[in-house]
Amino acid sequence: MSNVVANQKIHTEYGGVVPELASRAHQQNIVPVVQQALQRANIVKKDLSAIAFTKGPGLMGSLLVGTSFAKSLAQALQIPLIGVNHMQAHILAHFIDDKTHKLPQFPFLCLTISGGHTEIVKVKDYFQMEVLGKTLDDAVGEAYDKSAKILGLGYPGGPLIDQHAKKGNPLAYKFTKPKVGTLDFSFSGLKTGILYFIQKEVKQNSNFVAENLNDICASIQHTIVSILMEKLQNAVRETGITQVAIAGGVSANSEIRKRLKESEKTMGWITYIPKFEFTTDNAAMIGIVGYYKFLEQSFDANTTTATARLKVDE
Ligand code: KG4
Ligand code: ZN
Repeated sequence: MSNVVANQKIHTEYGGVVPELASRAHQQNIVPVVQQALQRANIVKKDLSAIAFTKGPGLMGSLLVGTSFAKSLAQALQIPLIGVNHMQAHILAHFIDDKTHKLPQFPFLCLTISGGHTEIVKVKDYFQMEVLGKTLDDAVGEAYDKSAKILGLGYPGGPLIDQHAKKGNPLAYKFTKPKVGTLDFSFSGLKTGILYFIQKEVKQNSNFVAENLNDICASIQHTIVSILMEKLQNAVRETGITQVAIAGGVSANSEIRKRLKESEKTMGWITYIPKFEFTTDNAAMIGIVGYYKFLEQSFDANTTTATARLKVDE
């Protein structure tokens, strides 16, 4: 009924997420954001049947703000409390039914790509998920953000690289792809490769980055998205499941969205690409998990706590 997201300007100002500043921003925003959400939905607090909140994974300070607020609100209103796993929420965002898209059928594969996670998940049911492969080091969002930092672009770097990449030649520069298990990922070597490449070129031409920004971004994006697509192909081959979804902040990326869509024709997959507003962190994805947990009467006790490390199947 409403999906209010507070701005993340504080991260842009500091070129990344400073945990203490993030949690203070949450504290300042949480009351006005909840009030705005109620207003836009045209309801009042007593119309609510439960309070869903993000239990983890994430930064402890920020999680504590949400958890404490949700517990207090549920207790004051005498309604159930529903703890939500952030990674499950990214995946289940596909079930937000606004009648504009088809909903996935179980089982399906989901490439979950965000600032902290990179996983291929076999989704057997709403709350039955199995991780088939994951990153051994950096997440793909981190690879984007760190590459952007090397290039002197702002934060978050993913959308900025994506913008420049659209105007560049994806084959201008070649970066080495990691050699890891068929369903696993590794992005820290790529980041180092990009850093050394830029340092070497800048030594010869101090304007190298400015003069070739679009081509550099397009080449980085092409390398990253090719890795993601190869791993998805491996997962389809190993499981025989041809229903493929993407989720998480990086699923906003124009190239992964395009390549996945093309796979419908080239490989016969059935693909699910989330609406743009349900890719990066948002409230609706927590709401939809709350809805399915409410149907199962799966509630949390008021003694529940935030969990910084929570796996997608927990
Ligand atoms: O899911 P999310 O909003 O937050 C986490 O749970 O981490 O994902 C944020 C990540 C950031 O690393 C950001 O750079 C990346 O998603 N991102 C993108 C794009 N939009 C956001 N990466 C590549 N292309 C984009 N268009
Ligand atoms: Zn997220």
